[in-house]
Amino acid sequence: REEVAEAPAASGSWAEAKAAARDCTRCGLCQHATQTVFGEGPLAAPVMFVGEQPGDQEDLAGKPFVGPAGRVFDRVMGEAGLDRSRAYVTNAVKHFKFEVRGKRRIHQKPNAGEISACRFWLGLERDFVRPKLIVALGATALHALIGHSGSLASMRERDLTLDDGTALVATVHPSYLLRLPDEAARLRETERFRADLERVGRLV
Ligand code: URA
Repeated sequence: REEVAEAPAASGSWAEAKAAARDCTRCGLCQHATQTVFGEGPLAAPVMFVGEQPGDQEDLAGKPFVGPAGRVFDRVMGEAGLDRSRAYVTNAVKHFKFEVRGKRRIHQKPNAGEISACRFWLGLERDFVRPKLIVALGATALHALIGHSGSLASMRERDLTLDDGTALVATVHPSYLLRLPDEAARLRETERFRADLERVGRLV
């Protein structure tokens, strides 16, 4: 049986939760990742962004969204008039899942069990921050938040609400934009992503 990290006391602080997450063994991803990448940002943030999982650079830095996807996120946030330093930024899964190919570590999608194991930490972050609005960046984050696999396309550009009444905006993951091979499609999709972030700005 796998050992499960002690749950921080309900009265514990965010710093205690983050420290407990460092030793998390709720799923197997802790075995190969460098470290847990917990969320960061002000606990009084009105908006929480949820990505999928740390990538290669985030795994090494111990911070969310600092690699190529993070740079796209920062740029489009700026263009949409949002200030990342006022937002809480985290991921649905807090360990990097990868496959080694030569010298590279290639991202692999977390599975339903890993997402569900890590929902414990996302739930704690939501309890600490209590944001007015949560933004799901991509399908993994959306599934982690709504608990089932509704399609992102059908939930995008809609006013959604989570079970606890928190407003939810569903949009694409910034790395989706990086993967689009066609320049015209990339521009069009980046524009749509920016429009989603502008809506976030209007809602908070
Ligand atoms: N992709 C994510 O979903 N999160 C990160 O922190 C980096 C890349």
